[in-house]
Amino acid sequence: MQIIHADIVFSQDREHLAVHPDSYIAVEKGIVTGIWPVLPEEYKNVPVADYGDGVLIPAFSDLHVHAPQYLNRGLEMDLLLSDWLDKCTFPMEARFADTEFAKLVYDAFVDDMLANGTMHACVYGTIHSEATAYLLERMDRKGIKGFVGKINMDCCELEDLREDVAKSISETEAFLERYSGNKNTKPILTPRFAPSCTRELIKGLGKLGKKYNIGMQTHLVESLWEAEQAKVLFPECSCDTEIYERAGLMDNGPVIGGHFIFPSEEDIRIMQKYDSYAVQCPDATISVIAGIMQTGALLDKGMKIVLGSDISAGHHIGVYTQAACSVQLSKLKHFYEPEGNRKITFPEAFWMATKQSGKLFGGTGSLEPGSVFDALVIEGLSDAARKLTPEQALERFCYIGTKENIKARYLNGEVLNE
Ligand code: GUN
Ligand code: FE
Repeated sequence: MQIIHADIVFSQDREHLAVHPDSYIAVEKGIVTGIWPVLPEEYKNVPVADYGDGVLIPAFSDLHVHAPQYLNRGLEMDLLLSDWLDKCTFPMEARFADTEFAKLVYDAFVDDMLANGTMHACVYGTIHSEATAYLLERMDRKGIKGFVGKINMDCCELEDLREDVAKSISETEAFLERYSGNKNTKPILTPRFAPSCTRELIKGLGKLGKKYNIGMQTHLVESLWEAEQAKVLFPECSCDTEIYERAGLMDNGPVIGGHFIFPSEEDIRIMQKYDSYAVQCPDATISVIAGIMQTGALLDKGMKIVLGSDISAGHHIGVYTQAACSVQLSKLKHFYEPEGNRKITFPEAFWMATKQSGKLFGGTGSLEPGSVFDALVIEGLSDAARKLTPEQALERFCYIGTKENIKARYLNGEVLNE
């Protein structure tokens, strides 16, 4: 049994924050059991971890991030998607054939993700099984709840990243066999996106999805170029998402579609049919994709919209920054295309980054009783001449906070030491 004292903030529902100022939270075996303004008599003898006016919030979830692109963050941000992939991203990913190099990068990536308060993630590796296995094992050992995918791609100008279909399928199957039973970090099918996969490869992955009951992550209608390419390469499909539906990839486990910026009505219908997640990655869409998701409209349709850092199309590994940027982008979308769009609120953005996405990882992303206690204490956000309320401190953290504002991190109820 642990008792923690702080100002406590989490999402009540999509539109509202639950705020418990100056309160006590009890955690037993890693699960929240209660929150009270006054510590109940029965707990009087339990030592209290007192964070004063620190703000206790749930840890964040990153539903779209590329670990092998970690060393590229903040670089070559003046390119657009297709050039950025060819000139910057693919040459970096080819280096992950060297597992010793991969280990250095993946250790730094995992540490930085945790330092920035992300404790649940859907992560892309590369085509390389050995390096991707190292990443998955590293996350699993740390207790990070998530999914890691060995990328599948058999179309790529760079020969080093062009897989043979049979080898891609057999290596993926071995990866699934090895890690399907994992408790924390599990494997997920990861066809990169339509322009980099043949029909044969995607069909083969569909069979694996069925056999192992495994979901999928991919990039969906992320740019006009990509949406157009999908239709040229798969003329039998009316939209990008149908490629995966036809291959039987949509109903084996969670489906997480990155970006979803230019969906047709049919893309939306298919995603809703399978209750799939669409991931907004605000920095990435500003930098290399140049499109803005219809976040408010999709939320109002009942779609599951969540957030991702998309390192390194996005430059900041902290998903909290993406909650702020999501609000900003919704205003721009509404300003330039008022028809059918609306701005979103900060509580909505925070909910996407925590409670909404946390459902994917078995009850994380909240601090209400019954939640897994993956949490952060943030502090140092008030000014000497202006003390912020707990919800203001949270909002400011998302706009101008850094990992230095995170005073403590709890993962599965245990304090993480630096
Ligand atoms: N589309 C295909 N691959 C990628 C990638 O690595 N990052 C982004 N943002 N989009 C992609
Ligand atoms: Fe991506």
